[in-house]
Amino acid sequence: MNTQSPHITIVLGTRPEIIKLAPIIRACEARSTSYSVIHTGQHYSKNLNEVFFDQLELPQPDYNLAVGSASHGEQTGEMIIGIEEILLEEGTDVVLVQGDTNSVLAGTIAATKLDCEVGHVEAGLRSFDRDMPEEKNRVLTDHAADYLFAPTEQSEALLLEEGLPKDRIYVTGNTVVDAVHQNRELASQKSSVLEEFGLNDTEYGLLTAHRAENVDEKNTFMNLLEGVERVGEELGVEFLYPIHPRARGQLEEFGLQIPEHTQIIPPQDYLDFLQLQSNAKVILTDSGGVQEEACVLNVPCVTLRENTERPETLDVGANCLAGTAPHEIVETTNMMIQTERGWENPFGDGTTAKMILQTIIQSQQQEAV
Ligand code: UD1
Ligand code: UDP
Repeated sequence: MNTQSPHITIVLGTRPEIIKLAPIIRACEARSTSYSVIHTGQHYSKNLNEVFFDQLELPQPDYNLAVGSASHGEQTGEMIIGIEEILLEEGTDVVLVQGDTNSVLAGTIAATKLDCEVGHVEAGLRSFDRDMPEEKNRVLTDHAADYLFAPTEQSEALLLEEGLPKDRIYVTGNTVVDAVHQNRELASQKSSVLEEFGLNDTEYGLLTAHRAENVDEKNTFMNLLEGVERVGEELGVEFLYPIHPRARGQLEEFGLQIPEHTQIIPPQDYLDFLQLQSNAKVILTDSGGVQEEACVLNVPCVTLRENTERPETLDVGANCLAGTAPHEIVETTNMMIQTERGWENPFGDGTTAKMILQTIIQSQQQEAV
């Protein structure tokens, strides 16, 4: 390996990975680190992918595997084949992956089969729900990784409980804070989304729901939507729902009605979505990243799941679990809209990307001596 600067290959494939790895890409650029980006092509629609590269002014990925949508095995398998070829060609020292998607697992497996180390950004998150594909991806990735970048001491403790050695774990905060800090001000200056939807002087709620466990089963999705409708009726909150293509597909397949008091809109770009989050009265979501961002932006959040791998947001009082039963959604939302804001953000001070990069470079240089 190059003792001066290791070569880092960043593997990404979905919307949240682009957003949360953008600060690391920027840090690589700022330090003139030798790096490249492999896009697996898991997300390919313009509004889940390209729009983030453009808006965050990221260089185009060096490689795009264009695997597209498929079953878990086929999608992950195709990614592994493509990533392996590139890693062999590039002489990569460290592969960086972020989060819990199939792209993360593929990057990890391809790298660990070669002479490459793996860095897992957002290590040690656990929902303890083995039905979630994301939970399996997280566990497998953490146990294969050489650098475990845990956002908090709680996530570090979970890794230690699973027997992972302390010298592989680095508590760094979460790059979601870097991303919010780098873009919040820009969003309030540049985004005209509130005007576009006539929300300047109006209280509104923001909804996102896309997780397989919520939208792939008709009754669960129907209950969730009914809960949102009842929040509208009983608490007088009107919702905007930027809908993920998976959820839109399922809504159409099941022939479900769009709930009253809810306006469905296309997936939003990052600045518009940040602006929508910042000004919302309450956020209802099953997204991991949105739970964190709501907490950082000081907006109350109701999680439409029975569990979360972000318990820190519950502990500080920023978030509450409601599941998908309509009466629970109404009760929890009622409680959260009255909650006092001003909690402390548990995910770091926005310097996570720099810390992660520094750790990798330092450790690679020590290994080379
Ligand atoms: C994936 C992740 C999930 C993450 C989400 C972020 C896994 C197992 N799941 O879920 O953890 O929360 O990304 O948004 O990795 N589709 C499009 N355009 C696209 C991509 C997908 O229309 O660009 C549609 C296709 O119909 C596809 C479906 O969405 O079948 C699901 O896509 P997929 O990438 O399998 O999973 P996500 O639900 O996006
Ligand atoms: N997001 C966005 N536009 C939207 C919805 C979400 O830019 O219309 C961003 C959001 O700010 C967060 C990320 O997408 O950073 C979360 O991604 P998602 O909910 O798809 O995945 P998860 O975090 O659940 O894996």
